[in-house]
Amino acid sequence: MRDAALPIDDRGLAYGDGLFETVLVRDGQPLLWDHHMARLEMGIDRLALPWPDFEAFHALPAQCGPGLRVLKLMLTRGSGGRGYRPPEAPDLRWRWTDSPFEPSPGRWLEGVAVRCCELRLGIQPRLAGIKHLARLENVLARQECQHDSIAEGLLCDSQGHLVEATAMNLVWRREGRLETPLLDRCGVSGTLLSALDEIVEFDWVRVGLDTLLAADAAWLINSVQGVWPIRRLDDAAGVCLKQWPLESNDTFRHAAHRLLGYPLNLGD
Ligand SMILES: Cc1ncc(COP(=O)(O)O)c(C=O)c1O
Repeated sequence: MRDAALPIDDRGLAYGDGLFETVLVRDGQPLLWDHHMARLEMGIDRLALPWPDFEAFHALPAQCGPGLRVLKLMLTRGSGGRGYRPPEAPDLRWRWTDSPFEPSPGRWLEGVAVRCCELRLGIQPRLAGIKHLARLENVLARQECQHDSIAEGLLCDSQGHLVEATAMNLVWRREGRLETPLLDRCGVSGTLLSALDEIVEFDWVRVGLDTLLAADAAWLINSVQGVWPIRRLDDAAGVCLKQWPLESNDTFRHAAHRLLGYPLNLGD
């Protein structure tokens, strides 16, 4: 159902008991759709939600407005149960909405400043990778980087391992290899990252900040914004830890932007 109100006893509202996807749609055509649906399926499986009507989901992008849009699809376990205890036969509830989207070409080309968050992500393998609705860690982390000059916050887990940014995945290049944090204990398994994983070779690593500081280049990526090269990394107090020069031929960004249909150079 499109953007209708949820009842007060909806479990998604009460407990974050549900999932969501945010999909880039260009003129009614979704980008990375199979990856979004695969992540949704993984979430349905992990949360043991009833199987939804995927045919209805497949019909949504064509119902979005013209031009570049973001389609948001949200599923909850519906109402009922006793407190946290879920109902035995949940009646899945889903809503969707679409809104116009304008990317930030300045960020693609000039890169962004990123701040390390003090907040640490809790380790919870059963929720790792899926895009569930309980996102308070991300909200608190984002609150740490309110200043407009900071595009994103970098997140480590409670053991100090790099994970991702508040709404983007993290990739860097070190000694000629592309590396990205393992997402098996926390974090969201990004659809752009999984699509890229099919065409470039990543080393999936569990490492701390020191490894990132030894990188030659670093990027934040997601399926809506595309790729933002990291130009500067600050610690949680705002002290600069590292600056990276901009790369004139950023082949990693080009590979990702081809998948999203974004221009490779601004003049394109
Ligand atoms: C916490 C988090 N990590 C990673 C991502 C990247 O996911 P995707 O590439 O599917 O947009 C997102 C997307 O919003 C996110 O919220």
